[in-house]
Amino acid sequence: MTMKHFILTMTIGAMTLTGAALANAEVSNPAVKDRMDLMGTIRGSFAVLGGMAQGKVDFDADKATSAQATLVEAAAKIPAKFEPNEADPESEALPAIWENWDDFVDHAAALETAAAALDPSSLETVKAGVGKIGASCGGCHQTYRMK
Ligand code: HEC
Repeated sequence: MTMKHFILTMTIGAMTLTGAALANAEVSNPAVKDRMDLMGTIRGSFAVLGGMAQGKVDFDADKATSAQATLVEAAAKIPAKFEPNEADPESEALPAIWENWDDFVDHAAALETAAAALDPSSLETVKAGVGKIGASCGGCHQTYRMK
């Protein structure tokens, strides 16, 4: 898969996962539900930016700015939400997270950095920034989330 295709797949995948919030209702461990909900927030704000980049949603600088702010804030919360090694039958988190904790935190920081680097002021700059964000989602999921 080429990088461009990968990013596109990630973006589309992120936008079509709307069922995830419902599935979370079956999660009995509140710590696991919490971290999944954080990922849901991340997906939601990324989908706003990705949708604009793909031309599926009209570009709106205010909406892009607020989606970016949400994404940066949520990325910063990943380490705290995932640090407790909590389990649930619904969880897709792999044990590798807690075996390679520093690397997992680096992946969270990579998302935060990529999200902070996006310039939400124009469609061109959103398009330019969204790929790196998508790559950071995939970079972490590949190692730390069940397929
Ligand atoms: C630092 C690692 C990391 C990064 C970066 C990351 N994720 Fe995740 N994500 C995970 C892990 C681990 C899970 C599985 C959590 C669980 O099921 O307990 C997950 C789960 C999800 C889920 C499913 C949530 C649910 O309700 O089950 C979605 C959607 C998601 N991520 C979207 C994204 C998007 C979009 C990005 C990038 C903008 C992203 N993630 C970046 C690690 C990461």
